[in-house]
Amino acid sequence: MLHVILLEAALELVPPELSAKKMVQKQAYRRKKKPNEILLDQTYHGQAMTQLNDGTRRGRPDIVFFCLQSLLETPLCKAGLMTVHIQLYDGRIIQVDAAVRIPRNYERFVGLMEQLLLVGQVPPEGAPLLKIQAPGLGELISSLRGSSKDSLALLAVEGGKHTGLNDLMSVLPSSLEAPVILGIGAFPHGGFQHDLQSLFDIQVELDYEVMMAWHVCSEVLWAYSLKHDVVSERYLLEQ
Ligand SMILES: C[S@@+](CC[C@H](N)C(=O)[O-])C[C@H]1O[C@@H](n2cnc3c(N)ncnc32)[C@H](O)[C@@H]1O
Repeated sequence: MLHVILLEAALELVPPELSAKKMVQKQAYRRKKKPNEILLDQTYHGQAMTQLNDGTRRGRPDIVFFCLQSLLETPLCKAGLMTVHIQLYDGRIIQVDAAVRIPRNYERFVGLMEQLLLVGQVPPEGAPLLKIQAPGLGELISSLRGSSKDSLALLAVEGGKHTGLNDLMSVLPSSLEAPVILGIGAFPHGGFQHDLQSLFDIQVELDYEVMMAWHVCSEVLWAYSLKHDVVSERYLLEQ
């Protein structure tokens, strides 16, 4: 099973310290919402965000959008062999049901995330497809490892161990039973803010240049799918 965790995601509602800013109020008015009900977004609030703590790392909900589009509804996901979690800037964690269909349209995705961050789950009633949970990252990673002695937690990071595609395939455990946990930063600039390296077994660099978080998601997902011949297995099950 592959467990993907998008770390320190640049996904949040406009924080109280920016809600009185003109550009925020204008955009909220246009969208018929209150300022603290809309997503923080560098595209619209960039100037106001220069006064925000960590402003350059926040307000990029598109990163989560593209990561989810590249992970969900893939053959691995459909085979029930993947889970996805998103760690928010404030440390809370979104549990993503692998069956969720994320809107293809970015504006609709924004509306969905706003509802999730305001209400705590989507849909608001009944079984949630997206739900905000309280436990922290350490707790999440140990619950994903379970009692397996062969689990492997990989942190994708610039400056990690140089790892080509073949190296990545060989480092992955050969048993499908062994949980593989992949941590990827879902923020635009800089390194991880929190000292989370110790929660992972290895740190891998997949290219000598900075990669987009969603390219890292795709590379690991497809390396894992190939390692376990997921697509061929699906054809066999289909017959
Ligand atoms: C776009 S990067 C963000 C930080 C980057 N330093 C920047 O200045 O844009 C997002 C995440 O993708 C992953 N990543 C980026 N480049 C990588 C690489 N060459 N190898 C492995 N992971 C990488 C890391 O998890 C990183 O936190």
